[in-house]
Amino acid sequence: MSDANPKNEETKNAMDGSKPAHPTYRQGKNVIAVASGKGGVGKTWFSITLSHALARQGKKVLLFDGDLGLANIDVQLGLMPKRDLNDVIRGRLGLDKVIQRFEGGGFDIIAGRSGQASLSALPSQRLTMLRDQILDVANQYDVVILDLGAGVDRTVRMLSACAARTLLVTTDEPTSLTDGYAFIKLGSAAGMSKNVGIVVNQATSQTEGEKTYKTLLKACENFLRLTPPLIGMVRHDRKVKETIRHQKPILIRSPDADAAMDVEKIADIIASDLSKRRKKAAQSA
Ligand SMILES: Nc1ncnc2c1ncn2[C@@H]1O[C@H](COP(=O)(O)OP(=O)(O)OP(=O)(O)O)[C@@H](O)[C@H]1O
Ligand SMILES: [Mg+2]
Repeated sequence: MSDANPKNEETKNAMDGSKPAHPTYRQGKNVIAVASGKGGVGKTWFSITLSHALARQGKKVLLFDGDLGLANIDVQLGLMPKRDLNDVIRGRLGLDKVIQRFEGGGFDIIAGRSGQASLSALPSQRLTMLRDQILDVANQYDVVILDLGAGVDRTVRMLSACAARTLLVTTDEPTSLTDGYAFIKLGSAAGMSKNVGIVVNQATSQTEGEKTYKTLLKACENFLRLTPPLIGMVRHDRKVKETIRHQKPILIRSPDADAAMDVEKIADIIASDLSKRRKKAAQSA
């Protein structure tokens, strides 16, 4: 894999100055962002399943639809949210008032709104306010998962930078790997890649998943002097498509599916990562 070129204005901006994504830098110790360079790699499905797996471990979980303007957590779960982020952006409701319980999964959701131009292009001051509201709401939870849009635009940079860990989801497709590498590169210029970990999705086998990770790792080591760790891999599984089609979480419809079990393993890793961070924070307080 070779070094990648930036494709648009946003990515260029992130690269030129080593300007941070935003002036004030707030982070949530229990916030996990799920991102990808290329779209359609499985972020939303993975975010839902990870939230569900953590909830099944007894954690209090909030899943936030951070793909502003192209939301689809509600679609994958077959929900019809009465309130969503649009009410927050229009100043009608506080973020805490649009939280909804997803009873079937035992976790809470903040739904987005698809096709809403005002959400997809939030002015940066409004975005900073939203980020702050997310971090305030995060205090009521053990874990908050942010399902982000693909790419490295301003919204992604800001939401990723406020997370304790960003899980970069990639598949073995060359374009997914190249765009994943670009995400890490541009993210590091924007000061947000320190905590990036890799999740290989749709792996045909353990060995193939490891190969995918090593390809990305090698490019990061050679060109960026970064060594993002492998957080886990999820096997390609036809049950994923089937459960999405039925708008039911895989951990309800097919809990024994390979992909479901793989995400449960990742949830164990995330839970222990978060508890280590909590202990460290308590020691240094
Ligand atoms: N482990 C898997 N095995 C098989 N298919 C998968 C797996 N993960 C995801 N998919 C397929 O990938 C499709 C895209 O998933 P999803 O919508 O979650 O991706 P996304 O990264 O959120 O996309 P976008 O960038 O558009 O937000 C799903 O409809 C599903 O068919
Ligand atoms: Mg998505």
